Amino acid sequence: MSDSPEQYGVVGHPVAHSWSPFIHGMFAKETSQNLTYRLYDIAPEEFRRESLRLFTSGIRGLNVTLPHKQSAAELVNELSPRASRAQAVNTISFLKNAMLFGDNTDGVGLARDLEQNLGLNLKGKRVLILGAGGAVRGVLAPLMERQLGELVIANRTPVKAQQLADEFADLGPIAACGFDQVPRPPYDLIVNATSAGLRGEMPPMPVGLIGEDTVCYDMTYGRGPTPFTSWAKSLHAARVTKGWGMLVEQAAESFFIWRNVRPDTKPVLAALSA
Ligand code: ATR
Repeated sequence: MSDSPEQYGVVGHPVAHSWSPFIHGMFAKETSQNLTYRLYDIAPEEFRRESLRLFTSGIRGLNVTLPHKQSAAELVNELSPRASRAQAVNTISFLKNAMLFGDNTDGVGLARDLEQNLGLNLKGKRVLILGAGGAVRGVLAPLMERQLGELVIANRTPVKAQQLADEFADLGPIAACGFDQVPRPPYDLIVNATSAGLRGEMPPMPVGLIGEDTVCYDMTYGRGPTPFTSWAKSLHAARVTKGWGMLVEQAAESFFIWRNVRPDTKPVLAALSA
């Protein structure tokens, strides 16, 4: 190992709220990896130029968060099969041959959190996803692999939900609609993948989506309640949880891609919930 730490980071807009530096810092300590991890707030119109500049200045890897995941898929030279399927990238590696390799660890992150950390069995379940952006692209294939009973994508702009449903139709039937047309009765799992919560908003939803067994999962995270978790709690969902586990699990998978070392996520999860 060389003396100077290898550099990593996350690009997003906004990104100041990100816990990724904390998480990767803990992973690095735990596995004795010599690295730094920083935040890079880059506006959409500068994403391509600034990301390339970061790589030519010595960065070894970048995580990519909203709203850049689809732009990142266009930026890289090569895509992993799961990133190619998603057409969205959340992990870029700068390879030794100066090529950029794009991968997507969001799906693994969500599936590990739902199944291993929360103990859910998704087979046969009715699942509703709110949102149709880059975050949803990464999780659709892993969810469909679980042989769900039903998957509905609802989005503020319904045509985008329909585009996703069409793009992934080979994996099984996916329904698409606007928020006001979400089919009832209650779902087993509702995942919020909109970025509305970052602005303190919750899209208006019809009644009857949440029953006494419904698990509500907010992919956004932060201290205290979010508009989505407040909505779910007010309707007495069986379980309401934020995406800390997904964040940590997708980070662990990115860390593994970059460093070829798999960190233990439990101490980080414990530190974040403390
Ligand atoms: P990400 O990478 O996190 O998915 P994104 O690609 O910018 O980010 O997608 C953001 C998602 O949040 C979209 O589904 C967006 O809906 P539109 O497709 O209609 O733009 C959704 N979103 C953002 N703000 C919202 C709001 N105030 N109410 C409802 N949905 C919102």
